[in-house]
Amino acid sequence: GNNIIVAIDGYSSCGKSTLAKALAKKLHFIYVDSGAMYRAVALYFLRNNIDLKDPEQIAEALKNIHLNFHSRDYQTHITLNDEEVSDEIRLMPVSETVSAVSAIRAVRKEMVKQQQRMGRSKNIVMDGRDIGTAVFPDAPVKIFMTADPKVRAERRFKELAPKNPDITLEDIFENLAHRDYQDTTRAESPLVRAEDAIILDNTDLTPDEQLLFALSRVE
Ligand code: C5P
Repeated sequence: GNNIIVAIDGYSSCGKSTLAKALAKKLHFIYVDSGAMYRAVALYFLRNNIDLKDPEQIAEALKNIHLNFHSRDYQTHITLNDEEVSDEIRLMPVSETVSAVSAIRAVRKEMVKQQQRMGRSKNIVMDGRDIGTAVFPDAPVKIFMTADPKVRAERRFKELAPKNPDITLEDIFENLAHRDYQDTTRAESPLVRAEDAIILDNTDLTPDEQLLFALSRVE
């Protein structure tokens, strides 16, 4: 169609969602957090003890998972079978298993199908790991985000610590490193910069500076 897709990919906790939300708000586009979908699937797998090596259990589980976004104020509000799970999907149990779950071919196939459907007729900003390479390879604007791993861990720590007193900076640093490793080395659409994606290293940039940079690319 004539709709516009902005694809934002990059490593874990690089500020992709902060930029994507700001951009969507400014452009009046819909924001879609593709990572929240993989997180919700991982939560369902955890709760139902799905064996990641059992294709039949996985196929059955995928049939029973219904995800929905309710976007208010450009924040991520996602339901898993009508239950609001937006907070629970950010917690460590999910963060620790999501990359293994997202590496499963059948899981990716289903999520990509749903993501492509969302982008069929609407202007959207979608962030994730494979948006510019696999989900919307023809997106006119692709941004690949990176930042210093220490800075990323500190940012995520500040975000999670108020609600999670037991969490440590070290745990977060390790989780980010582990997820980046799994996400870049998996067989199924690994995290890699699309050839036509522009790199945005935001280690020393404010959110406003990032927004201006991204807007200049959209125009
Ligand atoms: O974006 P977020 O960090 O919430 O994503 C959680 C995990 O979901 C990532 O570490 C990655 O394993 C997976 N993911 C993915 N493809 C996407 C978005 C997220 O594999 N498009």
